[in-house]
Amino acid sequence: MSPPREPGNVQQLPLADHGPPVLDGEAIERARRAALLPAEAAAEALWRQGLVKLLNDSLATELVCVLRYKRHHYTAHGLASPRIAEEFAVHAAEELVHADRLARRIVQLGGAPDFAPDTLSARSHAPYDASAGLTAMIACNLSAERVAIESYGQLVRLVGTRDPTTRRLLEDILADEQKHAEELAGWLTE
Ligand SMILES: [Fe+2]
Ligand SMILES: [Fe+2]
Repeated sequence: MSPPREPGNVQQLPLADHGPPVLDGEAIERARRAALLPAEAAAEALWRQGLVKLLNDSLATELVCVLRYKRHHYTAHGLASPRIAEEFAVHAAEELVHADRLARRIVQLGGAPDFAPDTLSARSHAPYDASAGLTAMIACNLSAERVAIESYGQLVRLVGTRDPTTRRLLEDILADEQKHAEELAGWLTE
């Protein structure tokens, strides 16, 4: 019979599990063998190819975000809120960091980061924007950030436990996009 739990304590393991921690050797052996199978290697290569394509779409989105924020930074000068114009520049710099991190990961996965300008807009999840008014600029950037949050959330779920390094990168970027969206939403209600 299990010993009674003390209130407020973390859940106690059953007595049978109180020994030293042990790895599942059979699962490790299965992983070792599976990696050597041609079919497994081919499936892994196909999966990586698909992931690289999706990461390249995110790279295109980040680059278009850099261009949109840069344009908004320079053209919003002289309007009522120079502070917001300065923040557009901060966001642009952070989106460029995202682009760099995605490009580096694409190379690590054996892919080629796609910086081709001719197809950038078509591959981006969010559009470029040439709004003139500050409110329209903020609304457009907020929309783009929400698109980014949705797409990175989907990517995190797709990657799951299959590629922890890519997943951590995507979660880092997602957290930044959530912070950007909160700032923009706050400015809209100021
Ligand atoms: Fe970003
Ligand atoms: Fe962002």
